[in-house]
Amino acid sequence: MMVADLIFISVVFIFGLVNIYSKLISAFHGKRNRVPRIKGRLPFIGHAHLLDMQKCHIKFEEWTKQYGPIFEVRLYDETIVVLNDYKSVHDALVKSDDAFAGRPKMYRTDVVDRSRNSIVWQTYTPKLVFLRKEVLKSLKAYGDGLDNLEQKCIPEMDRLVQRIRDKSVTAFDPAPIVHDAVSNVMMSFLLGCRFEHGSREFCELKKIGTLFNVAFGSGEGRSLDILPWLRFWGCHQRKRLEHALTSRDAFWEKITANYLRDESVIGNIMRHQNSKLGTTMNLNDGTIKEVFTNLVLAGTDTTTTAIVCLLSLVLHYPKVQRRIQGEIDKCTEGGNPVTLADRQNMPYTQAVILETLRYIAHVPLAVPHCTIRDVHIQDYFIPENTTVYINIWAAHHDPEVWPDPYSFKPERFLEEDGSLVHPQHHNRKRLLVFGAGRRVCLGEVLAKNRLFLFVTSLFKNFTFQPEDHSQLPEVDPRKYELGLVLHPQKFQIKAIPR
Ligand code: HEM
Repeated sequence: MMVADLIFISVVFIFGLVNIYSKLISAFHGKRNRVPRIKGRLPFIGHAHLLDMQKCHIKFEEWTKQYGPIFEVRLYDETIVVLNDYKSVHDALVKSDDAFAGRPKMYRTDVVDRSRNSIVWQTYTPKLVFLRKEVLKSLKAYGDGLDNLEQKCIPEMDRLVQRIRDKSVTAFDPAPIVHDAVSNVMMSFLLGCRFEHGSREFCELKKIGTLFNVAFGSGEGRSLDILPWLRFWGCHQRKRLEHALTSRDAFWEKITANYLRDESVIGNIMRHQNSKLGTTMNLNDGTIKEVFTNLVLAGTDTTTTAIVCLLSLVLHYPKVQRRIQGEIDKCTEGGNPVTLADRQNMPYTQAVILETLRYIAHVPLAVPHCTIRDVHIQDYFIPENTTVYINIWAAHHDPEVWPDPYSFKPERFLEEDGSLVHPQHHNRKRLLVFGAGRRVCLGEVLAKNRLFLFVTSLFKNFTFQPEDHSQLPEVDPRKYELGLVLHPQKFQIKAIPR
């Protein structure tokens, strides 16, 4: 009897201990709630049959109504957590330290070493942190500084204005010529030189941009990441990938031999190659080439699209154009060009730029993130190595935060007295145009300033009108096409000199 009692007491005691221990552990790690899963998953393909890859940001936005702002989808063998509102994105990217700062492994970037050398595609490593820091420093030295930026933009803006004047009021597609100007500003930061628009080098540069867009964009090229074994069937995506890289490499050889100046962002980074830190970080030629490619691609299409979308929007809202021109005219009474110092006197123009960036949300899913350790957000457990999509699109069209989200209303960023809302105002804080946290866009300052200079230069010199008043271009961003970024369908515009 005594022995049985003892055994009974010991068993109860052990169970008690186990119970307390497991409670302590779960209190320590928080609740292990699973992220809600989207229904309708099929074997092997997961939710792929429910998603059009060109428009998945919109489908995700729809699903938030049923599943809430955080949910999980499966694409073939990859589980993806999607964050769809400001709060979840802020909790993940800002409040969770570096937990979401990784990039997932992808066939297309892994196979050609981009995941070890580039900034955009590299996961969160000491080399990435080093590269980000050095590029930011170089951009500050050669790009972001107000005088520098104006000096580099003015010649390109003047050429852009002249090219538009040469159209002599006939309708034209603004995208290619805006792209040329933006791209040449990038060249003067990155290499310290510019190219003539018709030159062979400039044409090659544009071709490489297109090749990378197709090979590494979110369209059909993505099938190689999802089904890497496709390459064994001689698939054309793999060949396109190789073609993009060999063209880029040939271009790189030529520009480093003939054009690259020491006083440039890339020249500055190259100087680190032989430093002690540069050697420790394995800062090889492949790395420099990748950094160059990242900055050209990330810095050209994004800004071009924003300017072109703004032009299409003013065709629908001529009053917006008139108010911008009113502000420009006040600031340039003596005939001076608009400078960055004039921004403080042009709140409406700044509000239009901010609202354009909110409304079009043209980098709708940012760049895929990946958790680098187990983490919780809002009681949901997300394990290490989970791919995470940041749905900037849904956050920018969340009706709880932005009433009537599909209407273009610059007033969202203005106080009642017409001044620009303060940077700490909730509407500015909730703009996620450039991402947030450890992987925030490296070109944020440059992009905002360059947008301001280009937009004011265009509206100072021209009044834009539609080619045909009865057929305005589509401005609903839900209809835009997705490449590396969302962009509107081609349209024609007339520019009347002022
Ligand atoms: C309107 C213009 C632009 C927009 C809307 C934009 C937006 C973005 C977004 C959403 C990301 C992804 C952030 C994330 O992963 O969560 C990003 C990353 C990046 N952007 Fe931009 N960007 C713009 C202009 C530029 C410019 C001008 C440059 C070049 C100087 C640039 C360089 C980069 C780089 C290097 C990254 C990768 C950062 C990393 O992976 O750590 N961007 N950008």
